[in-house]
Amino acid sequence: MADHWTPHSWRAKPAKHIPDYPDKMELNAVEQRLRSYPPLVFAGEARKLKAELAEVCEGRAFLLQGGDCAESFAEFSADNIRDTFRVLLQMAVVLTYAAASPVVKVGRIAGQFAKPRSSPTETQGDVTLPSYLGDNINGIDFNEASRIPDPDRLLRAYSQSASTLNLLRAFATGGYADLDFVHRWNLGFVADSPESARYEELANRITETLDFMKACGINGETAPQLHQTDFFTSHEALLLGYEEAMTRVDSTSGEFYDTSAHMLWIGDRTRQPDHAHVEFLSGVKNPIAMKCGPSLDPEELVKLTDILNPDNEPGRLTLICRFGAENVEKHLPALIEAIKREGKKVVWSCDPMHGNTIKSSTGYKTRPVDRVLAEVQAFMAVHRDQGTHAGGVHFEMTGQNVTECLGGAQAITETELGDRYHTHCDPRLNANQALELAFLIAEGLKKERSTGTMSNVAMTAAF
Ligand code: PEP
Ligand code: CO
Repeated sequence: MADHWTPHSWRAKPAKHIPDYPDKMELNAVEQRLRSYPPLVFAGEARKLKAELAEVCEGRAFLLQGGDCAESFAEFSADNIRDTFRVLLQMAVVLTYAAASPVVKVGRIAGQFAKPRSSPTETQGDVTLPSYLGDNINGIDFNEASRIPDPDRLLRAYSQSASTLNLLRAFATGGYADLDFVHRWNLGFVADSPESARYEELANRITETLDFMKACGINGETAPQLHQTDFFTSHEALLLGYEEAMTRVDSTSGEFYDTSAHMLWIGDRTRQPDHAHVEFLSGVKNPIAMKCGPSLDPEELVKLTDILNPDNEPGRLTLICRFGAENVEKHLPALIEAIKREGKKVVWSCDPMHGNTIKSSTGYKTRPVDRVLAEVQAFMAVHRDQGTHAGGVHFEMTGQNVTECLGGAQAITETELGDRYHTHCDPRLNANQALELAFLIAEGLKKERSTGTMSNVAMTAAF
């Protein structure tokens, strides 16, 4: 963090992807109101996540991060929140067992609204309008009025985030996350899957382990960690005015925390070392992440790591790689070598979504599930070669039965994409596709355990 850092020092730097609000007075008034609103998360929780990510950094845990590409006002409902949370828990159980280590669960949820767009405008027929930038900025409807950035949307996004977080906290600690329930849902998924034979063996081994634990007297009453879980929130810190307004001094440590989420990340389009997004996140003490795409060179990465994690604190910085399945081999080894050479402590995670987006012949933006899996497998293979820990995965997914990504065991075809294509931005894995991936990634994690880049701990400590 530079000496001059303050929650507003980013304002003196060039910033990309921040909308130009026509009504600046109104924007200031809204940001002022947000400053007086309660924090959404507490500094102590962010510190807890950082400590858990430090375990990932040291190869003793695995990170699972996932949720919507863009949350929306229209899809806001208790059922949607519950279903996304449930799939993440189901994936976590499978990964926990396979990795034999704790899985840190982080949602792209309760604040993931704003989107950097590849083009500032959208054209339909002969009409060109500003692009849709996320429900906290403007509207998705294709008309001039809806596309004007409206500061009031920030208040609505805050309130939706608060309600979402409230429900997630209740689910995480109120019994919904009970390991037995979650495993039973997994058995239901396996029984119904066209690929059930492939997943059965792992599911049965988990059943046996749980039976064994019960026989030993380990159950939700004797071991409360089997009955509840820690669940954290995250989003891209794109809209810096909102993030600044949510930044508070923690009374315990006297340090600044961005209380809009436990973890914040910098997108691939806004990670310029001398720009506003890097400046802002360099000063808040939350665990942070940065997306690493094909244009990031190793020296630039080292420079960014110096700025974002000057004390080389494990758990502070997660590098989320998103190269595209074909490009992992080309880009990842040099980045890992630079980080190893400089002795930097980072968590390596893989976003297999953003480098694998294609346009279907039917005109939909989509992602083939086999490419998504191929990127995770390539990521893990490179880490095995380098002797480093493939620390986590980052998915765009939903608990709903949408048809946005191609393939998977249900074999969604190009013509079926239109059936339930509901995303407000990028195509998401549906519940079954996300779970299938967890089972398939579990096979890779077992390999990692056998090569010794990940330490083993018992299942009771894990969930
Ligand atoms: C995203 O995560 O939704 C995103 C825009 O990713 P990236 O910055 O990696 O393109
Ligand atoms: Co996206």
